[in-house]
Amino acid sequence: MNILLIGSGGREHTLAWKLKQSPLCDDLFIAPGNAGTANFGTNLNIKTTEFEKLGQACKSNNIDMLIVGPEEPLVKGIYDHFKNGEGLKHIKVIGPSAEAAQLEGSKAYAKAFMHRHKIPTAAYKEFTAENYEDGLEYIRQHSLPVVLKADGLAAGKGVLICQSQLEAVAEFELMIHRSKFGEAGSKVVIEEFLYGMEMSFFVLTDGKNYVLLPEAKDYKRVGEGDIGLNTGGMGAVSPLPFFDEELKQKVVERIVIPTVAGLDKDGLDYKGFVFIGLMIDKGEPMVIEYNCRMGDPETEVVMPRLKNDLVELLQATAAQQLNNITIEVDPQSVATIVAVSGGYPGDYEKGLLIHGLADAEATDSIVFHSGTRRQDDKILTNGGRVLAVTSFGSDIKNAVEASKETLMNIYFEGINYRHDIGFEFP
Ligand code: AMP
Ligand code: GLY
Repeated sequence: MNILLIGSGGREHTLAWKLKQSPLCDDLFIAPGNAGTANFGTNLNIKTTEFEKLGQACKSNNIDMLIVGPEEPLVKGIYDHFKNGEGLKHIKVIGPSAEAAQLEGSKAYAKAFMHRHKIPTAAYKEFTAENYEDGLEYIRQHSLPVVLKADGLAAGKGVLICQSQLEAVAEFELMIHRSKFGEAGSKVVIEEFLYGMEMSFFVLTDGKNYVLLPEAKDYKRVGEGDIGLNTGGMGAVSPLPFFDEELKQKVVERIVIPTVAGLDKDGLDYKGFVFIGLMIDKGEPMVIEYNCRMGDPETEVVMPRLKNDLVELLQATAAQQLNNITIEVDPQSVATIVAVSGGYPGDYEKGLLIHGLADAEATDSIVFHSGTRRQDDKILTNGGRVLAVTSFGSDIKNAVEASKETLMNIYFEGINYRHDIGFEFP
């Protein structure tokens, strides 16, 4: 079958790498892709939210399946565009409908969903300009720290953990009355702070059945020791030594089963990946958030451990036959370390020459491109996150060491990466 994959990051390079291993994958196209995805298919110069152009590209390239990497096109309704589009209805879309994507697109929607389906999550209330005074009162009587969340998508910046009531009141005021996060912050979820170990869990659902993918942990802070600003993710590891069978069963029974049943009960169209952000406190799992897609850089460790044919898996998803699938996982440990541009997540330069890629690719690591572009025979930086170097190992430490060794080959001006990915698992 012919496939169009949407997105341009390390997640999409990894998905392209995995899809192309399948004998079921004929022509692969990536929109817009990066210098890495171009090794596995044809990049199309179309943005992820240009639905009309994507539809045209599907028609002219006889696309059978559309796989959506990032959240923005999903929240903006790419699924619905194809489902209702002339000449597009036969294309299998991997990703939820706009309504189901509200699980990521609206924190209040996600919290109400969890509440309705009795899925464990932090206690919360939602507020707008209408009940602003009630919000102030709610903050004043709330324990500390208190968590404020802009309801809508805010490029990963919409969550504030406030250490005092004064700070929380000030931030609440900025969101509601001064549009701190624009429209995304016109509704605010105020919730209890959860303690524990954060991790990412991934489920592929066809709307009725589900399969479990390997778990992972990502490292969001830019600095070693988990300090500094939040980023898109500086590295990831899988599996997690503390995620034992007992904990996994709790996650399945209390979270995965009611989530998939909830989608069905609520009549939501969802054929795709569900990323469940979990907090584990003393062996008890709680949901921090849902994302309606795979994680980045988690994909760079999850997909290399997945032994199944991904195209077969996604065909079963589209046909609502995931009940016939058995997932097989490589027991080895996998780590990825993300090399970022100097200055990221603040301002950074683009267009810098990347040296040493061929040497890095000659190792046992897999070098996934995140923000790169090709110019003639050169590969240049083209984003904050530039490369994700993935390695296998007998344990996490060995996998991380292998990625660090491979990264010694790579240089671009300002290159930065964390040396302590997986530090909790020595
Ligand atoms: P989100 O934008 O929902 O991904 O949240 C960003 C990050 O904020 C999460 O990855 C957590 O590290 C943190 N966070 C969100 N909600 C809570 C909470 N209720 N308690 C503790 N940390 C939280
Ligand atoms: N790594 C976190 C995310 O993809 O949102």
